[in-house]
Amino acid sequence: MNLDTPLRLGVAGLGTVGTALVRLIDRHGNDLAIRCGRPIAVTGVSARNRNRDRGVDVSGATWFDDPVALARAPGTDVFVELMGGAEGAAADSVAAAIEAGKHVVTANKALLAAHGNELARAAEKNGVSLNFEAAAAGGIPIIKTLRESLAGNTVSCIYGILNGTSNYILTRMEQDKLSFEDCLAEAQRLGYAEADPTFDIGGHDAAHKLALLTAIAFGTEVDAESIYVEGISSIRTADIEAADELGYRIKLLGVAARSESGIEQRVHPAMVPKSSTIARIDGVTNAVALEADFVGQLLLSGPGAGGEATASSVMSDIADIARGDRMGTFGRPASALEPYRRAAMRAHEGGYYVRLSVYDRPGAFAAIARRMADKGISLESIVQRRRAPKSAAPGHLVPVEPQPVIMITYETTEAAIREALDTIRADGHIAEEPQMIRIEELG
Ligand code: HSE
Repeated sequence: MNLDTPLRLGVAGLGTVGTALVRLIDRHGNDLAIRCGRPIAVTGVSARNRNRDRGVDVSGATWFDDPVALARAPGTDVFVELMGGAEGAAADSVAAAIEAGKHVVTANKALLAAHGNELARAAEKNGVSLNFEAAAAGGIPIIKTLRESLAGNTVSCIYGILNGTSNYILTRMEQDKLSFEDCLAEAQRLGYAEADPTFDIGGHDAAHKLALLTAIAFGTEVDAESIYVEGISSIRTADIEAADELGYRIKLLGVAARSESGIEQRVHPAMVPKSSTIARIDGVTNAVALEADFVGQLLLSGPGAGGEATASSVMSDIADIARGDRMGTFGRPASALEPYRRAAMRAHEGGYYVRLSVYDRPGAFAAIARRMADKGISLESIVQRRRAPKSAAPGHLVPVEPQPVIMITYETTEAAIREALDTIRADGHIAEEPQMIRIEELG
């Protein structure tokens, strides 16, 4: 490596993150050259539309219509992939860059969740870096923390708020009483959401990130397919209000934990105690907490989305390459990653919040409680909320309306609660699909 010559970046994708990266290099170029020991320059760019005004000057860089050509170009030292998407141009150009012996920096969690194992092996074979700090939790330096700072630890569990858009929506629904749709539109306007926001609200974006964190934290191959995923679209104002009254907040959590039968990976809305640190992580902020044997408990929080925060992480990966620092993609040689062994979701143990819409007739309440008891589920509380009855037209009976019933269980298993809800559904006492939210008693 010649430390006098610039490190030449080929940047593919000039959206929110790509333009922020160009601005960052413009603003901090001098400091970066000193810190890294060599200048860093954007010498090639590629994006869908050449003529769009992006508010940054890339006229000094060579334009490539085809990102694969940029990835292979002799003038590219590092291919910076900021296009997104698990397949297509992103996958083709990253593979082409590695094949051509170029280092790769990417913010693309979907790509790595789908193809991380083979890309890590290819990077190793070709002697190049494949860095992805920006792919998990935006501006939070969790990848470096796991790969480098915690190298001397065994991690037993890692969890967090990994999707800024979902956390933004849940926070605004709770604090400002806004509708789900208005909050989502706002998150899109602010540049937090994925190109397809169902990735955010369906929990898939958080699952992609969790898959990457699991691989590094537990030294296993990436296995996003094995993650149990539920998003936030079933969360109603009634749940947010009930959580508040019961002393909880609802957060979309990603959790990976080692158990006797393997590693549990799950993404779903969870009730967390208001007193817990994670409950206070609001808006687009992300947080990652972990437990490891020597360091104990650790929590990192910061902006999980947005151009500048994500560009900050992209730059940290570029700086490593400029300095000549190399690491196995997932913190160890790809050949040393162990096969992922999945712990069954049905074996998950915890407390549950259940909201049912129950036909108000004699015995319904008792029948529901009996079904729970039949599965060995002990109830901490069961509350029926009487809705104000509608007034009937003169000469007509008041219609019988289903009433909300809210239950909190003591610790039980996922299998038991699911079986109990199946029998309750089959009994015909409830008017709509039961709502079930797992309770996480975090500190
Ligand atoms: N759409 C993502 C989020 C962006 O909302 O967290 C960062 O990955």
